[in-house]
Amino acid sequence: MWVPGSRGVIENVLPAFETAGMEVQRSAYRSMSHDRLHGTRLVNQKPVLCASCHGTPVPGQADKGSAGMYLSAAIHTYHAPRGATRYNCHPGSQTRCSRSPPHTAVSGNRTRTTCHGDRTRVGQTAMTGARVPWSNEPKCVTCHAGVAGVDTGDPLYRNATGHGNVHCARCHGSPHAMVPGREASDNYQAMQYQHSPKTIGSCGACHDNSKGESACELADQHAGPGATPSACNVCHTDVSANTAQ
Ligand code: HEC
Ligand code: HEC
Ligand code: HEC
Ligand code: HEC
Ligand code: HEC
Repeated sequence: MWVPGSRGVIENVLPAFETAGMEVQRSAYRSMSHDRLHGTRLVNQKPVLCASCHGTPVPGQADKGSAGMYLSAAIHTYHAPRGATRYNCHPGSQTRCSRSPPHTAVSGNRTRTTCHGDRTRVGQTAMTGARVPWSNEPKCVTCHAGVAGVDTGDPLYRNATGHGNVHCARCHGSPHAMVPGREASDNYQAMQYQHSPKTIGSCGACHDNSKGESACELADQHAGPGATPSACNVCHTDVSANTAQ
């Protein structure tokens, strides 16, 4: 009987074929392994649509599919104990998935793992149904607790709105390329409107931090004729005339 996690004949002979320099149809071998282990006939299907049996919400499937296992669950749990690292599959060591330096510094608690969990966790939460892949993803509020408006509830950050119905991503950028981003192109909009690679609307575009000393001072400096516009006036274009009211 096949034991989950064990290697089959095909997996064992594959390296020997490769060392011998023979041209190996890796995908055909994978299909043969899958057929032997799970009773399918993938070898006859070219190309194989994995999602035809392993549900994945990307093309709109809500359930686990006929395999009873989301594609994310199958892929992550199978590869977790087999030494695959995240960049073997996800955009590689050059691209690196998240391009937000405050969220990727190796020091402290800011690695990718603290957002998504490791491969085993990603797979197992999808396997048990505790999480629907692509629909249940990490939330900003997990780390940024206690800040008004940050908890998006059910909607994912990429679909959520705040601050008078403005999409979060309009001011912060997309989830893996938040401003400030590592690539100049991620900061293009902030540079164009604020001349500073900061969240759109951030007081920190000009000040050392995002807080002024008092509302009166803010109004003195940023309201009325001849006042300094703030990053808020990227959208509130009449801000210098109106903030005192
Ligand atoms: C014809 C249906 C079918 C198709 C198509 C299919 N699978 Fe599967 N797959 C299954 C079934 C059934 C299982 C066994 C599920 C179980 O053990 O509960 C399985 C199991 C797996 C597993 C093992 C997961 C584990 O932890 O043991 C992996 C990995 C996997 N499939 C990957 C793929 C990939 C990649 C593709 C596309 C190339 C694919 N499958 C296409 C039916 C399918
Ligand atoms: C795993 C924990 C974690 C998650 C999840 C997280 N953050 Fe952060 N975030 C941090 C840490 C840590 C910092 C750096 C704080 C510092 O340097 O003082 C930070 C910094 C920031 C900053 C300040 C950036 C700057 O200008 O320096 C913003 C804005 C921010 N996060 C927004 C978000 C948004 C939006 C989300 C959700 C899409 C999010 N964060 C999710 C941990 C997290
Ligand atoms: C109008 C622009 C705007 C919108 C829309 C917006 N934000 Fe922000 N957000 C900001 C600014 C500005 C800051 C302060 C950034 C800084 O300090 O540089 C901030 C800060 C944050 C922080 C860091 C808070 C902290 O102090 O730890 C998080 C997390 C965050 N926003 C999440 C969200 C989420 C989630 C949404 C959508 C529900 C959202 N934001 C919508 C402008 C916006
Ligand atoms: C476009 C640049 C810019 C942005 C963005 C900006 N400020 Fe200012 N702010 C200034 C300038 C310039 C002054 C005048 C400083 C001086 O005279 O020394 C000032 C003065 C102030 C003062 C008076 C106290 C002081 O530090 O001198 C406060 C309070 C203040 N800003 C708060 C804010 C807040 C809160 C935000 C975000 C809502 C903000 N500012 C965004 C440029 C900016
Ligand atoms: C990305 C565009 C954008 C930026 C940047 C922005 N706002 Fe707004 N703001 C809006 C929109 C849109 C509304 C909703 C207007 C409406 O409903 O008529 C709004 C509403 C408001 C309101 C009314 C709040 C309410 O709930 O009715 C205040 C106050 C405000 N903004 C202050 C600020 C300040 C301060 C900043 C800078 C820190 C800022 N805004 C930056 C787009 C923006």
